[in-house]
Amino acid sequence: MTAPKKLFIKTYGCQMNVYDSERMAEALGGEGYVETDTPDDADMILLNTCHIREKAAEKVYSELGRYKGLKAAKPDLKIGVAGCVAQAEGAEIVRRQPMVDLVVGPQSYHRLPDLLAKTQGGARALDTEFPDEDKFGHLKARPKARRAPSAFLTVQEGCDKFCAFCVVPYTRGAEVSRPVDRVLTEARDLVDRGVREITLLGQNVNAYHGIGPDGADWSLARLVRELAKIDGLARIRFTTSHPNDMDDDLIAAHGDCDKLMPYLHLPVQSGSDRILKRMNRQHTAESYLALIERLRAARPDLHLSGDFIVGFPEETEADFQATLDLVEAAEYGSAFSFKYSTRPGTPAAERAQVPEDEKTDRLHRLQALLTRQQRALQDAMVGRDVQVLFEKPGRMPGQMGGKSEYLHAVHVAGADVAPGDLRRVRITASGPNSLTGTLL
Ligand code: SAH
Ligand code: SF4
Ligand code: F3S
Repeated sequence: MTAPKKLFIKTYGCQMNVYDSERMAEALGGEGYVETDTPDDADMILLNTCHIREKAAEKVYSELGRYKGLKAAKPDLKIGVAGCVAQAEGAEIVRRQPMVDLVVGPQSYHRLPDLLAKTQGGARALDTEFPDEDKFGHLKARPKARRAPSAFLTVQEGCDKFCAFCVVPYTRGAEVSRPVDRVLTEARDLVDRGVREITLLGQNVNAYHGIGPDGADWSLARLVRELAKIDGLARIRFTTSHPNDMDDDLIAAHGDCDKLMPYLHLPVQSGSDRILKRMNRQHTAESYLALIERLRAARPDLHLSGDFIVGFPEETEADFQATLDLVEAAEYGSAFSFKYSTRPGTPAAERAQVPEDEKTDRLHRLQALLTRQQRALQDAMVGRDVQVLFEKPGRMPGQMGGKSEYLHAVHVAGADVAPGDLRRVRITASGPNSLTGTLL
C-alpha cells in the first residue's frame, strides 16, 4: 500500500470558504490525500483565497512566494489556488506565478480531481467557469468521520445585489439555492456524526429560495423550521443576511423557533442615506432601524452584529457621523468594520476617494464606539445564566470552552463537561474577549 499523500489547505476570507475548504479536502480525500497542518511536508498546497479587500488578495501572492523553496526542493509538489482570487484573477495568477499548477474557482471545485489528473503530466490547469451543474451534487458524499459539535452548511451562494463596493457578485456569481432535501440530508448526516449546532451559510442566506420536496419554493424561515424538527440538533444559526431579505416569517421565527439562536448578523455598511444610496444598498438607515425594532419585538434579547465600511467614496464627516448615530441607536453585540478598499471592476472604484488618513481616523473612532458597546453588552451578562455548547478545552489547564446562545465565548474551569455537551452556566466574570462562569 502506498503512503497517503498530504494536503495542506490554507483558508482565507469568509465562513463559506471554510465550508468549501472542508468539501475540497473531502473531494481530494478520494484521490488519496489526507490533511496536514503544515505546508512543509505537503504533497499538495491549496490556498482557498478571498478577494474582498485589496490586502486579502495581496496576501495570496506573498504566501505563494513563501512556497518557492518548497517547490524547488520537491518538484512533485502541487500548488493550487482556489476561491475568490482564483475566480477574479485566474489567468493572471497562472501568468505571474509559474509554480502554480492549478487554479479553480469557487463554483467549479467539484472538478478538482480531474484538474489534478491533468497536472500529473506537468500541464497546468485553470477552471473558473460557472458551470450549469450543481457542484454539491457532483461532490462525493461526505465521509462518516466524527465531527466537532458546531458545523457550517452552505445552503445558498452568490449575490444579485451588486453593492457598488463589492466583488462577491463577480467572484461567486448569481444567487443560487440548494434544494431543501439535499440540505436536510446533509444536516441529518452532520447530526449523526455528533454535530449539535448548524450555521446555515450563504452570501445572502436569507434570500434562500430552495425547491422543496413538494415542488414549492421554500424560504429560509421554512427551511429553519424544518431543520428544527431534527432530533439531536440543538441549535440553528444563519449568516450573512441582507436587510431587504428579512421577511415576516423569518422575523417571527426568531420569536417562536426555540432552536434558532438569538443572534443575528445583519450588515448595514453605513448610517448615511446618501452613502447607502451611492452604495446601492436599496435600504435607508431608518428602514434598517425599524427592522431591528421588529426583530427585537419578536426576540427582545437578540444580539445584533453588523458590518461597516468607512471612507466609502464621497463620504463626508457628516455622513460618518450618521454612521456613529446609527450604531448608538442599534446597539451591537459584535461588529466588523473596514476601511473602504477599491476593488477593480466595481462601480465605486472609479469615484472620488476619501484620503487614507481620514479613513484611518474614522475607522478608529467607529471601532472605539463599537468596542465600548460590545464590552458593555458583554459585561451585562455577568450574573446571568446562559446555555453553553461546549466545544474544546480552553487555554488554561482544566478549562473547557464553548459558546453561549449569543455567540459569546464562555470558559468554565474544573467542570466535568465534554465537547458537545449543552449545559447551563452562570456567568461570573467578563474579560476582554470572553466570559467565564460556573456550571449550574
Ligand atoms: N454578503 C455579505 C457580505 C459579504 S462581504 C453581506 O451583504 O452582508 C463582508 C463584508 O466585507 C461586507 O459586509 C462589507 O462590510 C465588507 N466589504 C465588502 N467589500 C468591501 C470593500 N470593497 N472595502 C471594504 N470592505 C468591504
Ligand atoms: Fe456584496 Fe452587497 Fe452582495 Fe453582500 S449584498 S455580497 S455586500 S454585493
Ligand atoms: Fe472573500 Fe469570497 Fe468570501 S471574496 S469574503 S472569500 S465570498
